Amino acid sequence: MVRRITSKWAKTMALRRNPKVARFLPATSKMTAESLKRLLDRYGMVYVKPDRGSFGNGVMRVEKTGEGYRYQSGRKIVQYRRYEALYGALRRLTRGKTYLVQRGIHLLRYRGNRFDLRVMSQYSPSKRWETTGIIGRAAAKGKIVTNYHNGGTIYTAETLLRPHVANLNAKLGALARLGVQTGRSLRKSFPGIAEIGLDIAMDKTLKPWILEVNTKPDPHIFRKHPDRSIFKKIRRYQSAY
Ligand SMILES: Nc1ncnc2c1ncn2[C@@H]1O[C@H](COP(=O)(O)OP(=O)(O)O)[C@@H](O)[C@H]1O
Ligand SMILES: [Mg+2]
Repeated sequence: MVRRITSKWAKTMALRRNPKVARFLPATSKMTAESLKRLLDRYGMVYVKPDRGSFGNGVMRVEKTGEGYRYQSGRKIVQYRRYEALYGALRRLTRGKTYLVQRGIHLLRYRGNRFDLRVMSQYSPSKRWETTGIIGRAAAKGKIVTNYHNGGTIYTAETLLRPHVANLNAKLGALARLGVQTGRSLRKSFPGIAEIGLDIAMDKTLKPWILEVNTKPDPHIFRKHPDRSIFKKIRRYQSAY
């Protein structure tokens, strides 16, 4: 039985219990007028997202500016002087659903576009967690989400990271281990989980941040990887669950 956990909040709570993984989780709260204000005061830029969402839908970037506040949704940017006006607008956009607010990470860029990484880790037929693939996704011009279903473009992690990282293989190895750690931790809270797709942001210090963990990750983006054996292995492991 392969389980899917849709609530980002439930997954965050589970991962916080393992200090080895918790260090890589950006501060996250359920969105309220108070929590949004607190994270904005602390970090200056945050992401607001539906607790149960996908494809980057409903994801917004909110910033404190010299004149007040602004949010970006898609390519639309709206500014406010007062916090209450900002929050009122966000309340209308998010009505009736649970939203999370998360410390915003300033993503590295490739040819001017923000990018992040997808790390695929699977419970292998020999019953150990293994990272089977890492790939990169760059946002469409001016967009704040990298999702393929939101106009993003798939590149190899090597292509995206090479301009930023001196020791690429060491960095990819560390990401692979983080995927394995995360899989082990999540399976403790949610037995039956057999594969995860981590959305990893890297900031300019090259620290990886876990933006979310998908429990039903799309394997098909790995078809775009020039190393054909990666997608084959992912499929082979999937057919064993
Ligand atoms: N805290 C954050 N800082 C920077 N970018 C973020 C943050 N959270 C989300 N994003 C961007 O938005 C995309 C979609 O957010 P994500 O949490 O993965 O939700 P979804 O389930 O819709 O994919 C991410 O892949 C990333 O590009
Ligand atoms: Mg995602």
